[in-house]
Amino acid sequence: MRGPHNIWRLVRTGATFERTGAMGAVLEALDAPAPIRLAARVLGWPFKWLGLKGDPNVPPVPRALTALGPAYIKFGQILSTRPDVVGPDMALELQVLQDKLPPFPVAEARRVVAEELGGPLEETFSAFSDPIAAASIAQVHRATLAGSGRDVAVKLLRPGIERAFKKDVDAFHLIATLVETLSPSSRRLRPRDVIDHFEGVVMQELDLRIEASAAGEFAANTADDACFVVPAVEWNMSTRRMMVLGWAEGLPLSDLAAIDAAGHNRAKLGATVLQMFLRHALRDGYFHADMHQGNLKVAPNGDVVALDFGIMGRIDEYTRRVYAEILMGFIRKDYRRVAEVHFEAGYVPADRDVGEFAQALRSVGEPIFGMEASKISMGRLLAYLFEVTERFGMETRTELILLQRTMVVVEGVGRSLDPDLNIWAVAQPEVETYIANAIGPKAIARDLFRTASVLSRFGPRLPQLAEAALIAQAHPVKPIPPSRWPERLAIGFGGLAVGLGAALIWALF
Ligand SMILES: Nc1ncnc2c1ncn2[C@@H]1O[C@H](COP(=O)(O)OP(=O)(O)O)[C@@H](O)[C@H]1O
Ligand SMILES: [Mg+2]
Repeated sequence: MRGPHNIWRLVRTGATFERTGAMGAVLEALDAPAPIRLAARVLGWPFKWLGLKGDPNVPPVPRALTALGPAYIKFGQILSTRPDVVGPDMALELQVLQDKLPPFPVAEARRVVAEELGGPLEETFSAFSDPIAAASIAQVHRATLAGSGRDVAVKLLRPGIERAFKKDVDAFHLIATLVETLSPSSRRLRPRDVIDHFEGVVMQELDLRIEASAAGEFAANTADDACFVVPAVEWNMSTRRMMVLGWAEGLPLSDLAAIDAAGHNRAKLGATVLQMFLRHALRDGYFHADMHQGNLKVAPNGDVVALDFGIMGRIDEYTRRVYAEILMGFIRKDYRRVAEVHFEAGYVPADRDVGEFAQALRSVGEPIFGMEASKISMGRLLAYLFEVTERFGMETRTELILLQRTMVVVEGVGRSLDPDLNIWAVAQPEVETYIANAIGPKAIARDLFRTASVLSRFGPRLPQLAEAALIAQAHPVKPIPPSRWPERLAIGFGGLAVGLGAALIWALF
């Protein structure tokens, strides 16, 4: 959707940033070069009066983004996970962005449901509530299944949201292209890649089947975790625009007064939230990456219920093992080992100095270990670690930043439930279990077994393979390297010419 409306969006964005006072802050955070500053001011300032005013009680950048609508809010939220792009201060400021918007009317929701079901709503649901929560992309209703009488949560995409997002994302692409053209040096920040990343994330959220399958995978992984529940997906009713989950009864983890009144053990709840997060990240490499209080409930029996699977994080097995070893190095204060692990994994270029790196890592670990137990934060440890590794040439990895940021959120949830929560004490059993399973002797045995089972698949063919190898050794065929194709061509034509010549001579005589 290229076209003049993009110019208008561009102007409106610039004008709103000017009007809310966000422009200066953004240019500063991105350390924008002169041509960009000039263009931004020229585009924004004269049209300032066209910009949206926003809520003056909110800091400038979140204020501008909230005023500009859902796509901008989402963009800001995603940038808050990219301190590598916007800098740590701006990332922090963007974290205040709340994804809450007025709901669309229930009549419209009923129409969407009927459309998705391909029949009247009443055939499937005997009751359908007013919206109970509404955000930029979707809203949620509580409903009762007509047959079984079970309650479910119905999450619906906002009507027309795909189109609206596509238009705004188009304008984002235009802005990125403009920035790259005006200032080639800005390519260092890869503005176009950032927009591509954003588009990828948002397009996933605009298909609720992706969230439904995330819920399904997460539920399967965590089925045996005591005290932790993921509502079941009703696949036969879930579509791109509608997701139906079992209703989770309980109190939101943000309502401390109600949790106390119900007599729940807050210390245990806090520990469970933290342990579950670590277990899922380490054991499964698949974790809930949006674990704020609003997405967690406590069930009447004290179980923690997870909701909202729009943002999940994935870490491969190799990385998990490396990080478990790094964590263990920190716990043992063996900074040299932590440094070596980074080199062995190839995360830090080999030409850097191990001793200097180890020294920098000591500056990460020591202050944190010197703290009082109730102030220690693994999230902060990881944040400092990434700062140092980046300084030593390690590339930023989005999945690890997501992990670190979620860790900070989870620790916040844990501490809000139990101000005395001792992060190390609670985390230690989870980390130790993982290490025992993933890098201990058991793991070596498992790796060997896996290797043996792969080899054994070739078992029946081994005699032939051996014979072929022996024959090949006895009669080596010298292949022509594929890169020397002109030579092959010459030989081919040469052969042909000799053959034709021979045939001619034979025919003539
Ligand atoms: N399965 C469910 N059971 C009970 N309440 C739910 C369920 N799913 C969502 N909700 C309620 O709806 C709210 C919004 O749902 P959520 O999936 O978090 O949407 P969003 O992605 O817009 O944040 C939740 O905070 C919770 O109160
Ligand atoms: Mg939510």
